[in-house]
Amino acid sequence: MKKLRLGIMISGRGSNMRAIVEACRQPDFPAEVVMVISNKGDAAGLVYAHNCSIETAHVNLKSFEDKDAYEAEITRRFEAMNVDLICLAGYMRILNDSFVQHWQGRMINIHPSLLPKYKGLNTHQRAIDDGEAEAGCSVHYVVPDLDSGEVICQAKVAIDAGETAESLATKVLVEEHKLYPHAIKLIAEKF
Ligand code: GAR
Repeated sequence: MKKLRLGIMISGRGSNMRAIVEACRQPDFPAEVVMVISNKGDAAGLVYAHNCSIETAHVNLKSFEDKDAYEAEITRRFEAMNVDLICLAGYMRILNDSFVQHWQGRMINIHPSLLPKYKGLNTHQRAIDDGEAEAGCSVHYVVPDLDSGEVICQAKVAIDAGETAESLATKVLVEEHKLYPHAIKLIAEKF
């Protein structure tokens, strides 16, 4: 079985990246993580990936003339590693259209809401404020419009009485860690 070669982009904690790396340790999992790139040098996830002997890079926007040049460097690094699929995992910077178009159909993201509801930031508080009965997370293909690409799969949790944005984020994150490997498996099976 040829494994899908994953490039992961993070900005911080990297718990979804970690869930993907752990799933890839199963011998029958159809993907492997070949590179992790962060836009933040102090992202905790970079240390974890490095300790797992995964190729890592901090690519700093400030070192480039503009965002296109910065993103071209990310493409260059992923292509040098023959990445088949980019997984955005808490990468908190909007990508330029040229980068998204280059990777369209080959780049996915995890978002902490039941898309198409609550695109953008502060998803959990907005769901609570609207009196929603449930919240969740979605893995979707990345297209130029923010959080608008085809949804691959979703997981739901109940919003309980007295729920706070923090308690909801904790509950949803547990589901994110199962959902992201599941989405990758679905894609790998069709690849
Ligand atoms: C996750 O909850 C992810 O869904 C969210 O950021 C968190 C990253 O956590 N992503 C977005 O909000 C993207 N718009 P992690 O670094 O521990 O995976």
